[in-house]
Amino acid sequence: MKINNICCIGAGYVGGPTMSVIAQKNPHINVTVVDINENRISLWNSDDLSKLPIYEPGLDKVISEARGRNLFFSTDIDKHINNSEMIFISVNTPTKTYGDGKGMAADLRYVELCSRKIAQVAKNDKIVVEKSTLPVKTAAAIKNILTETGSGVKFNILSNPEFLAEGTAMRDLEIPDRVLIGGEQDDDGKKAIQSLVDIYSSWVPKENILTTNLWSSELSKLTANAFLAQRISSINSLSELCEMTGADIDEVSKAIGMDTRIGSKFLKSSVGFGGSCFQKDILNLVYIAKSLGLNEVADYWHQVIIMNNHQKQRFSKNILKSLYNTVAGKKITFLGWSFKKDTNDTRESAAIYVADMLLDEKALISVYDPKVSEKQIISDIKNIRNNNKDDSINDLSIQKNPYEACKDSHAIAILTEWDEFINYDWSKIFKNMNKPAFIFDGRNILDKKKLESIGFIYKGIGKH
Ligand code: UDX
Ligand code: UDX
Repeated sequence: MKINNICCIGAGYVGGPTMSVIAQKNPHINVTVVDINENRISLWNSDDLSKLPIYEPGLDKVISEARGRNLFFSTDIDKHINNSEMIFISVNTPTKTYGDGKGMAADLRYVELCSRKIAQVAKNDKIVVEKSTLPVKTAAAIKNILTETGSGVKFNILSNPEFLAEGTAMRDLEIPDRVLIGGEQDDDGKKAIQSLVDIYSSWVPKENILTTNLWSSELSKLTANAFLAQRISSINSLSELCEMTGADIDEVSKAIGMDTRIGSKFLKSSVGFGGSCFQKDILNLVYIAKSLGLNEVADYWHQVIIMNNHQKQRFSKNILKSLYNTVAGKKITFLGWSFKKDTNDTRESAAIYVADMLLDEKALISVYDPKVSEKQIISDIKNIRNNNKDDSINDLSIQKNPYEACKDSHAIAILTEWDEFINYDWSKIFKNMNKPAFIFDGRNILDKKKLESIGFIYKGIGKH
C-alpha cells in the first residue's frame, strides 16, 4: 500500500520525537500527531520552541524544519484517522493500578480505546502500527476489536517497538541500532510490513531493518528492556559489596566491560534506574510468565526490580546513617530530579523515592533541577505521598539556583547526572553549608579527591 498520510495517536515522549523524524526524512508523506490532551497539542504547536511539551536535545531543530511542511499536531483525531493509510498507536501503557494484575500487568485501556476509535471511524483499509510497548499477543486483541467492531474494512496490524532512550532520542532515531517490524506472515501482512520498511528506508540502511512475526517483535521489546535493566541491577548489587570490601565499582565495571563478550555499556552503578519503561516492562514480563505458570522465569526477572528498590532504599539509609541517624529538621539538597540527564521526564525517577523516604524521617528537602518544573516536582511528591494526607509537602522547597539550593544544607545528594553539576564552584558551595558537609553522589560523577580536599565528606555508590 502506498502511504501518503500517517496519523499517530499519542503526542508523548515516544510519539512526538518519532513522528518528527519520520516526517523530516519523508517530506512526501504528511504526518499528523493527534492527542486527546488539547494543552499538549497547543504546546507542540507553539511558535516558541522552548515551550515544546518535552525537552529533548535536538528536537527543536527537527520540529522547525518539518512542522507546517508535512508534520502537524492536532486534536482532530477522527479526521486524521480517516485520512491516513497508516495509523500508529503511541499512547501510554502504564502498570495497572487496579483489579487483576494490579501493580504488574500493563493497563491496556488506552490502547483498546484507540483501537475502538479506529474501528469506529475508518472507512477504508488501514495499517495499524503498535508503537506502544505491549504484552505479547496484544496485536491479536487489537485485530479482534478492529475486525469485530469495524465496518468491514480490512486492517493489518504491525508491531514496531521504539528503542529510543530519552535524552538521546534524536540520535537514536537518526541512527538506530535496528528498526524492528513484526507483522502477520500472510501475503497481506508481508505487504504491510514492506510499506513500513519503505518509510524507514528513507534513512535507515536496509540491513538495520529487521522483520519478524508479530509475537517475536512484541516480546523482543520487553526482552531488550529487561536485559538492559538487568545489567544495571547486576552492577548495583555489586556496588554494595564494593562498599563493604574496599573494591571500587567503577574499576570493576571498567575491568569487566573491556571483555568484549560483556561490553562496556549499561554498567554504570547508580542510585537505581528510573524511567517509564524498565520497571513497567519487567513487571509486565513477570506477569506474563506467572500467568503461564512459569514461576521460575517470573522470579528470575522479578529479582531485577527487587534489587533496584533495594538500591534506592540503601541510598536513603546511607544518608540517614551518615548524618548520625537523624535528619529531622536538617536541610538536604537534591541536585537533579529527572530520571536521567538531558530530559525533563521524572517518571519513576529514583529522586522521588529517596525524597519520600527522607520526608518520612522529617528531613527538609531542597531541590534543584535544570529542566524539571516546580509543578512537576510537587505533583510527583504528592502522588507518592498519597496526595499529601500529611503536611510533609511543606518540608520540600524547590530552587531555581543551585547555590541557593545548597545554602545551609547538611548534605547534598546527586540524583541525576546533569553535566553542569561537575563544573560548579564547589568551594563556594562548601563555605555556605553546615559542617560536616556531606555529598552523596548517586551517579559517581564528581571528583572524590577534589571534594575531599575542599573539606567535604564524599560518599559515592560502590566506593569505600
Ligand atoms: C510511550 C509508549 O507508548 C509506552 O508504551 C512505552 O512503554 C513508553 O513510551 P510515552 O510516549 O512515554 O509512552 O507516553 P506519554 O508521554 O504519556 O504520551 C502518551 C500520550 O498519549 C499522551 O499525550 C496522552 O494524552 C495521549 N493519549 C492517551 C491519547 O491521545 N489518547 C488516549 O486514549 C490515551
Ligand atoms: C530505555 C531503553 O534504553 C530504551 O531502549 C527504551 O526504548 C526505553 O527505555 P530510557 O528509560 O529512556 O530508555 O533511558 P535509559 O538510558 O535506558 O536509562 C534508564 C535508567 O537507567 C535511567 O534512570 C538511567 O540513569 C539508568 N542507568 C542507565 C543506570 O543507572 N546505569 C546505566 O549504566 C545506564
